[in-house]
Amino acid sequence: MRVLFVCLGNICRSPTAEGVFRHRVREAGLEERIHIDSAGTGDWHVGKAPDSRTCRAARLRGYDLSGLRARQFQREDFERFDLVLAMDRSNLRNIQAVRPATARAELDLFLRRYDMALDEVPDPYYGGEDGFEQVLDLIERASDALLAEIKGRL
Ligand code: 4NP
Repeated sequence: MRVLFVCLGNICRSPTAEGVFRHRVREAGLEERIHIDSAGTGDWHVGKAPDSRTCRAARLRGYDLSGLRARQFQREDFERFDLVLAMDRSNLRNIQAVRPATARAELDLFLRRYDMALDEVPDPYYGGEDGFEQVLDLIERASDALLAEIKGRL
């Protein structure tokens, strides 16, 4: 099972999702069976580590994001992954726009899939520290639900 998380810059939301979900998958002993990555629809931050505010907030909850590096979403990702989960509708639209007709990967909004109070992960980049905590809260809950879903599919 191959899962790709997508946001705009690949330095805040999707690396958080990658780190949190990887942590959950490792705890469940499933790291050999679930491949995880993240990407951004934009290219401004390619090659960079996640935002320092994102790293700090994650570290305080026990997730180490420091080794991650941003990359841009590519059309080929539709062939490389089974499940592509976008953080917001704008990300979803941008990915849908380059989706090959033959693509088999499933594409969805990460939170909508799990019937949470919000269906988008709000972009924290231009806001205060609360935004980074909210990103973690939402992603932790959705990651639990995603792991349960995948366990049922493996
Ligand atoms: P992300 O957040 O999509 O969660 O990584 C953002 C990071 C950078 C920018 C916007 C959103 N930016 O405009 O540079």
